Amino acid sequence: MAPDRISRTSRDAPLRVVSCCPVSTQLESLRRHSTVVADTGDLDAIARWQPQDATTNPSLLLTVAQDKRFAHLIVKDLDQLFVNFGCEILKLIPGRVSTEVDARCSFDIETSISKAKRFIDLYEKSGVKKDRILIKLASTWEGIRAAEKLEREGIHCNMTLLFSFAQAAACADAGVTLISPFVGRIYDWYKAAKKVDDIPIAEDPGVASVRRIYGYYKKHGYKTQVMGASFRKPEQILELAGCDLLTIAPDLMQKLSVEGEVARKLSKDSKEEKLKLDQKQFLWLHNEDAMAVEKLSEGIRRFDADARKLERALAELPAARAAA
Ligand code: E4P
Repeated sequence: MAPDRISRTSRDAPLRVVSCCPVSTQLESLRRHSTVVADTGDLDAIARWQPQDATTNPSLLLTVAQDKRFAHLIVKDLDQLFVNFGCEILKLIPGRVSTEVDARCSFDIETSISKAKRFIDLYEKSGVKKDRILIKLASTWEGIRAAEKLEREGIHCNMTLLFSFAQAAACADAGVTLISPFVGRIYDWYKAAKKVDDIPIAEDPGVASVRRIYGYYKKHGYKTQVMGASFRKPEQILELAGCDLLTIAPDLMQKLSVEGEVARKLSKDSKEEKLKLDQKQFLWLHNEDAMAVEKLSEGIRRFDADARKLERALAELPAARAAA
């Protein structure tokens, strides 16, 4: 609670106590509606913003791996490097860290499962239990099937690169722990398609996509949590207040650190009937959404390109750095 202010209106006037309301920032207020997650591998930013959970991806880790502050975490083995960052992040947060499986596994159930298990083993060797890890997998048909199997073995998954309603319906049906619908990349696609510089928040297709998925999950009682991801502006985050979780980059946390109260926005109503999709129906329905098809493919290519870039840089490291 902010202390009461004492004001003196004139030299001779008696002291007047002015009662202050507690000043809350939009970010603090948002935390009352949604679990706030940090979308970064930057340890200093995580220490500063004190999120519950944190999410990483190959592009975010490529950025921090080039930063001298984190040189002590760099090793030749890419999986181990991801785990090194994950372990340091976990020292700063009470919750879970998301670590992403190599994008090259996106269409292969078995290699996705082995990669996920390798991460879990590497974390366990560092003393981290699997309940603090979310394995991130691309929301392809194969990624979703891999997640279904992993969840049955008690390994929790965060389904990433999620753009279509078909992907969301299939993930819930597979019983995954969490999905990350990508608000900003959907917004980017529609901005480019419409050749405009901005889309007003009331018409934002990325926000609308999360609102639809959230209502559908809650109406049908799915346990899978919805974590809005990939934001481009604070308004998109505020419009999704009430979503189970929101993963937010540090620059946007900074922008939300202005005084203000945030109201819950999401509703648990939906008109959607429950969907149970087999592979053919999933592929058909996903394919009907041109944005989702392009963004999923591009997302896999981009995460792969950044992981390979990082791998090439690691190959140049002196042999002495090969050990974890
Ligand atoms: C988080 O889980 C996602 O990987 C991240 O939000 C993607 O954000 P971007 O679209 O800004 O790369």
